[in-house]
Amino acid sequence: MSRLTTPVAALTLKNPVICGAGEHTMTARAIEAALATGAAAVVAKSTNESLAAKQQLDKTDYALLDAAWNRLPWDFEPPADAILMGRSGLLQRDFEPWLDELVRLDRSAAQQDAYVIPSLILSDLDQCVAYAQQIEQAGLRVLEVNIGAPHGEEAAKGAIRLERGAERIEMITRRLREATSLPLWIKLTGQSEDVVALAEATQRGGADSVVMMGRFMGFLPDLETGAPLLGTSAAIGGGWALPLTARWLMMTRRRLGRDFPLIATNGARNGLDVARFLLAGASATEMTSAVFTGGYAVLERAIEELDAYVARRGVSVCELLGQAADQVQTYQEQASRPGHWERFAPLS
Ligand SMILES: Cc1cc2nc3c(=O)[nH]c(=O)nc-3n(C[C@H](O)[C@H](O)[C@H](O)COP(=O)(O)O)c2cc1C
Repeated sequence: MSRLTTPVAALTLKNPVICGAGEHTMTARAIEAALATGAAAVVAKSTNESLAAKQQLDKTDYALLDAAWNRLPWDFEPPADAILMGRSGLLQRDFEPWLDELVRLDRSAAQQDAYVIPSLILSDLDQCVAYAQQIEQAGLRVLEVNIGAPHGEEAAKGAIRLERGAERIEMITRRLREATSLPLWIKLTGQSEDVVALAEATQRGGADSVVMMGRFMGFLPDLETGAPLLGTSAAIGGGWALPLTARWLMMTRRRLGRDFPLIATNGARNGLDVARFLLAGASATEMTSAVFTGGYAVLERAIEELDAYVARRGVSVCELLGQAADQVQTYQEQASRPGHWERFAPLS
């Protein structure tokens, strides 16, 4: 146990920094590089049975942008406020050899007190359930299932399902729960009016944790060409998303209680962001774009930054969990300050 140790239901993570799934967790070499940083877990690039989802990987494209929407170079040293727009696809490997490789990687991760986590993206539910069972039988120790990937509505029909209905989410989670006794993390969309209700549905369905929340879809006209940047709508993320994710975390913690662990994704760029998500109620944070665009050292730095923050405050990660969420006030509870607004307006 150290001051960074964080429980996620029955699991104990050595720290709250998880390398989230993406093109930087696609190969054994890449997963090993992510593990070598000291991250508590690495989520492998997602897979499913859909040929169309695999083919989509050949149509991926990505753009880094500054805050005024100018394109930035892809040099693995992006500024802290860089925005990533992109179109992604799924792993192109066959399921069985991929599974064997992950089992081998997870065995060596276990020696470093870490986890390699397989990730499924929902297409056909029966097939997803069958894969979940195979993953457990093969000896992996955790399962993440993404049922809210942002590309769901742009990708070929059925290739990637974006679930937004609480009833369906509860049913899908329950089917997976009945099929496997592995720690089950359900990853949700953020493109919903009520992410709390979706998180609650995963809890009712028997998930061990909910990962929240997926990125949004955006559309950016290019001023030079007059055409859409990257040619299509695309998923968009950046540090700006952190407060949006943090608010849903805070509200979910308040609705579902302290015993249902939440995992953050969408907006963390460094170790202080991991601390922000902890304070908002996330037991751990998945970092993806920051690693994809900045390299694996981002993870190592994040752990160091978080450790320095925790040390400075003289607390442990567990003591920070939900601290801000538990203090949130209503607008009505704020002290009345007549005329205060005049200090902020250009004219009064
Ligand atoms: C290039 C790229 C590929 C991604 N691929 C996957 C994936 O295969 N499975 C998945 O569950 N999420 C995937 N994601 C979503 C991320 O894991 C993460 O949830 C999202 O980018 C928000 O977190 P971030 O702000 O740390 O990037 C991908 C994201 C990016 C940028």
